[in-house]
Amino acid sequence: MTRTVYVNGEYLPEGEAKVSIFDRGFLFADGVYEVTSVLGGKLIDFDGHAKRLQRSLNELEMANPIEMDDLLEVHRELVRRNEIDEGMIYLQITRGSDGDRDFAYPEAAEPTIVLFTQSKVLSESPMVERGMKVISIDDERWGRRDIKTVQLLYPSMGKMMAKAAGCDDAWMVQDGAVTEGTSNNAYIVKGNKIVTRHLGNEILHGITRAAVLRFAREAQMEVEERPFTIDEAKDADEAFITSASTFVMPVVEIDGDVVGSGVPGKVTLRLREIYLDESRKVAV
Ligand code: PDD
Repeated sequence: MTRTVYVNGEYLPEGEAKVSIFDRGFLFADGVYEVTSVLGGKLIDFDGHAKRLQRSLNELEMANPIEMDDLLEVHRELVRRNEIDEGMIYLQITRGSDGDRDFAYPEAAEPTIVLFTQSKVLSESPMVERGMKVISIDDERWGRRDIKTVQLLYPSMGKMMAKAAGCDDAWMVQDGAVTEGTSNNAYIVKGNKIVTRHLGNEILHGITRAAVLRFAREAQMEVEERPFTIDEAKDADEAFITSASTFVMPVVEIDGDVVGSGVPGKVTLRLREIYLDESRKVAV
């Protein structure tokens, strides 16, 4: 089946979708994005993603080419047309192009909007049973990581460093403390307490993070939002990550050292179960 994608108001077979070579997303990484997961053909946390998208656009003074109600409809239509039961919807909005290259924002540019689906089993993964291995690397990204821009080269490099080390991902470290994973938020568990970095410009304000912390508090777990070090993480009982594409995923090894007993932890797996159950209930 040929994938149907959405480009600037049109649904097209992926091979016919086109964007200008002058598009500022291509030339300057002048664009923002969202990834929304699909479970049972329904969207998880759509509202959260739509709100964060608007925030990213506002922070960059970029026009939003689509009403939020219409955006929901486009997501749903792509799920229908591509018969997605489980997977992700990728959305990207860039500042567009005025047909040339100039560092200053163009005055007469229409934003570009692109959405496409990725079909993938998300609710089950061998990683849930075996846990992830991560390495630590310096965080060399720009200073506004709270804006979900398409400048993803350093996270890609981080993934490649992890792969070269025989690991699944990299946790980035700034001034001695973990910021986040290459495409996920990072957590440790000590006793009944969950520790994750506080919100700020240093990390992306994960939509999954917000939901998981809410569920954790509702389940009477203690949550501490503060920086933690790699040494503290190695000494923790459990570690995990969250994102729209992995939900809650255990981490069992950091820089070759085993975390806790070296297998996915109870708190982590419980949070994954709660997150999946509760999110499915309110999926749209
Ligand atoms: N990444 N931190 C970073 C740097 C991310 O790129 C992501 C998401 C997250 C988790 O955010 P959320 O829970 O809203 O998905 C944290 C997406 C999944 C991606 O780039 O594919």
